[in-house]
Amino acid sequence: MTTTKLKPDWAGDDLLSRVVNRAIQTPALYALMKRQARQVMIKTAEKNGVPWRQTCIDLDTPKMRQRLEALTNPALVYPDYYQVPFHAYSEGNLCWQAAFEAAPATYAMALRIWPQEAISWQAAQARLRQSFLAVLDAHGPAQVNDMLDLGCSVGISTLSLHRHYAPRNSPAARTVGLDLSPYMLAVAQAQDAQGEIAQWVHAAAEATGFADGSFDVVTMQFVAHELPRTATQAIFAEALRVLRPGGALAIVDNNPQSPVIQALPPVLFTLMKSTEPWSDDYYTFDLEAALRAAGFESSVTVPSDPRHRTLVARKGE
Ligand SMILES: C[S@@+](CC[C@H](N)C(=O)[O-])C[C@H]1O[C@@H](n2cnc3c(N)ncnc32)[C@H](O)[C@@H]1O
Repeated sequence: MTTTKLKPDWAGDDLLSRVVNRAIQTPALYALMKRQARQVMIKTAEKNGVPWRQTCIDLDTPKMRQRLEALTNPALVYPDYYQVPFHAYSEGNLCWQAAFEAAPATYAMALRIWPQEAISWQAAQARLRQSFLAVLDAHGPAQVNDMLDLGCSVGISTLSLHRHYAPRNSPAARTVGLDLSPYMLAVAQAQDAQGEIAQWVHAAAEATGFADGSFDVVTMQFVAHELPRTATQAIFAEALRVLRPGGALAIVDNNPQSPVIQALPPVLFTLMKSTEPWSDDYYTFDLEAALRAAGFESSVTVPSDPRHRTLVARKGE
């Protein structure tokens, strides 16, 4: 599932990449691309049974707005890289629309992984999470009680992580979801109807506020491609600090070496680059080297599905 090419030609400094970047920097063209991206995403998702617009209607309640207030950490200072338009939302992740659409967008994303197979969005989502967790099981610590999901968004990754380990370790399993967007956290808390998650924390993954050695597993699920490399490096250092000896940082994200990603049609990679400002930096960044530089003792990388790779890095005993 990988090629010898380290990254797609449409990322980095190649000619194709520079032409695409120029188009994105043209305001009228960029506005058109953003509108198009939204329409294509919503139409495709609903055609495949993902209740996109209904989900947004259902989530928009007065109770949700109260959750926002209760979850917001007023002392938090947002990093500059986070306060930019993202995913075609002018306020990036810091708005209700981004939070209400996050779950349907996540379900639609999983469906794109296995286009040849007639599977439901629920089955695709379960398979995506399972493929990640299988790598973590194989290369992570044997005993997992305390887990931290960095960039948890609306909690889909947090709940799947928790439900994977909780039945084995119950009642000891304790899982925390952390995100920079209080809007995402409000939706996450509402989705966590049974209160399975110990805490939803509004903080930067670079400075979680947890004590040294608090967790057995830290995850970054589909977060790194949204970050400049300096942020990823800072998060790796923080993850190492809060992990116990022998603990693991598990990352799943787009695989630059995936033939599917490398062969994305121009309209798709242009849309992707126009709505994810740190794409180029992600696709040209050596995550394994960064993990070593941060002080992780070992790491493995597995192409866990046709589009994504899972990395599991261990802290020394
Ligand atoms: C694509 S979403 C993650 C999806 C989720 N983990 C999943 O697998 O379904 C990326 C999330 O990372 C959050 N994020 C980005 N930078 C962050 C940072 N420095 N610290 C904490 N959260 C961050 C965003 O607010 C967003 O909710």
